Amino acid sequence: MPEFILVNPQVAPFVAHLQLNRPKELNALNLELMLEIKEALIQLDADPKVRAIVISGNERAFAAGADIKQMAGRTAMDMLKIDQFSTWDSIRKTKKPMIAAVSGFALGGGCELAMICDIIIASETAQFGQPEINIGIMPGAGGTQRLTRIVGKNKAMELVLTGTFISAQQAHYYGLANKVVPIEFYLSEAIKMATLIAEKSPLAVQLAKESVLRAYEMPLQEALYFERKNFYMLFASEDQKEGMAAFVEKRKPEFTGK
Ligand code: HXC
Repeated sequence: MPEFILVNPQVAPFVAHLQLNRPKELNALNLELMLEIKEALIQLDADPKVRAIVISGNERAFAAGADIKQMAGRTAMDMLKIDQFSTWDSIRKTKKPMIAAVSGFALGGGCELAMICDIIIASETAQFGQPEINIGIMPGAGGTQRLTRIVGKNKAMELVLTGTFISAQQAHYYGLANKVVPIEFYLSEAIKMATLIAEKSPLAVQLAKESVLRAYEMPLQEALYFERKNFYMLFASEDQKEGMAAFVEKRKPEFTGK
C-alpha cells in the first residue's frame, strides 16, 4: 500500500484520480513519494478501465517542490547515484493523458510535476514558481526546459532567476494553466476534462498525445513524420471505422479501444 499517495482508479467512468498525500509537508516530493507516483502510473497505464488520469494535491498545495530536508546533506555523487530522474522519465512515459488539478503551491519539482502532465487546471489560489534559486540550486526536472517552451524564454528566465511565484491568472495568461476556476471546482473541472477525453477512442488519444509531445521534444521535420505515421496507423483501428460511420449516420460513436 502506498504511504504518500491515494489512488482511486474510478473517480468517474474511465477516469482515475491520484492524490499526493503528505499534507503537513505541503506534499514535498521525497524520493519515496515519487516512486509511488511512478508505480501507480505504471499500473493505471496498464488498466483498460482507465483512459485518463487526474493528479492533484490538496487545496493548500499541489506540491511545494522536492523535499529539501531529504536533499540538504547530499553530495553531487549521492545525487548522481540516487538517479531520481529515472523516476521522472518513467512518469513522462505514461501513455494515457494526465491532467494536473492544481490548487495552492506548485513550486520547484511541484511545478515540474504539473508540467509533465498534459493539461493543467488551476484553482484561483494556485501559485506556480521555480524557487530553487533561493536555496542555491536550479530546476532539475524540466523547469528550465518545459517551462521555457511553454511560457517563452524571457518569462521563464524571470521565474527561474528570481524565484518569484506567479498567480493562477498569470499562469493562464502565459499558457501554463489551461483553465482557472474557483477553488471549489478545480478538482471537478479536471475530472470533467478527463471524462471528456475518456469518451474518445483511447487509441487515437494515445497516439495524439505522443504526437503533441513530439512537437516540443523533436525537431519539426522529424516530429511531422512521427505525426504522419501515427495518423496512418489509426486507420487500422475499429475506432476509426466506428467514429467515421457514426458521423455519417448522425449518432454518437461507441469506442472500444480496438
Ligand atoms: C521539505 C517542505 C517543503 C519542501 C514546505 N515544507 N516545502 N519540506 N521540502 N520543499 C514544509 C515546511 O518545512 C513546513 O514543515 C511545512 O512544510 C509547511 O511549510 P511552511 O513553510 O511553514 O508554510 P508557509 O509559511 O505557508 O510557506 C509555504 C512555502 C514554503 C512558500 C511553500 O514552505 C516554501 O518556500 N517551501 C519551499 C519551496 C521550494 O523552495 N521549493 C523548491 C524545492 S527544490 P515544518 O515541519 O517546518 O512545519 C526542488 C528541486 C526539484 O523542487 C528538483 C527535481 C526533483
